[in-house]
Amino acid sequence: MTKQHKQKALDTLNTEWLAKELSLKSVATNGVPGEGNPDAEIVFVGEGPGKDEDEQGRPFVGAAGKFLTELIESIGLRRQDVFIANIIKHRAPGNRDPLPVEIEEYVPWLNKQIEIIQPKIIVTLGRFSMEHFLGDGLSISKIHGEPKRVVIKRSGLPAGRQVILPMYHPAAALYRGDLRPVLHEDFAKIPKVLELINQAGTLAIDPEVAEAAAQQTLL
Ligand code: URA
Repeated sequence: MTKQHKQKALDTLNTEWLAKELSLKSVATNGVPGEGNPDAEIVFVGEGPGKDEDEQGRPFVGAAGKFLTELIESIGLRRQDVFIANIIKHRAPGNRDPLPVEIEEYVPWLNKQIEIIQPKIIVTLGRFSMEHFLGDGLSISKIHGEPKRVVIKRSGLPAGRQVILPMYHPAAALYRGDLRPVLHEDFAKIPKVLELINQAGTLAIDPEVAEAAAQQTLL
């Protein structure tokens, strides 16, 4: 699909989903579908809109978004080069954690966005996003910054091979200053991982360079 076709497909998808009676819609001001380059090599997936995002209908525009923008620019990219999305696309009251039923309700929208964009890397920001792509029971403190080559078989996710790069949520660094350099270091790995994917012409990762890369099968 060309970039224009992808943009059109994303617009159609968002129109369709914004019209649905989703459970958090009635308590939110605006839906926040996500934004960026429809042909992006990198998709960032956060948790869900906060107060600023709810007001503006755009992802990551508050304090955490300011830091995310800084991180993206630290690797020579601009926000409009990548695609920024969330698991949940309406703000949960009081910024509470999304409920499992809400995640189940909203993720088909995200999955379809990914199917259209076909990114080379999905960077998960925070626990909920990591668990959606890599499964439950993982510790973000142990696997952040490690590219995972996964074979996605779980129903609902676009089938096929995909590189997932789990990271801390930028908001975590707002109250834990020690995570700021950690996020910067993890972001600095993105160009290298992308280069490896491009060189190989596949989604395989050279184990010598990214020894932490693991092949996982999601059932
Ligand atoms: N936190 C998120 O997870 N997503 C946003 O869009 C903003 C803050």
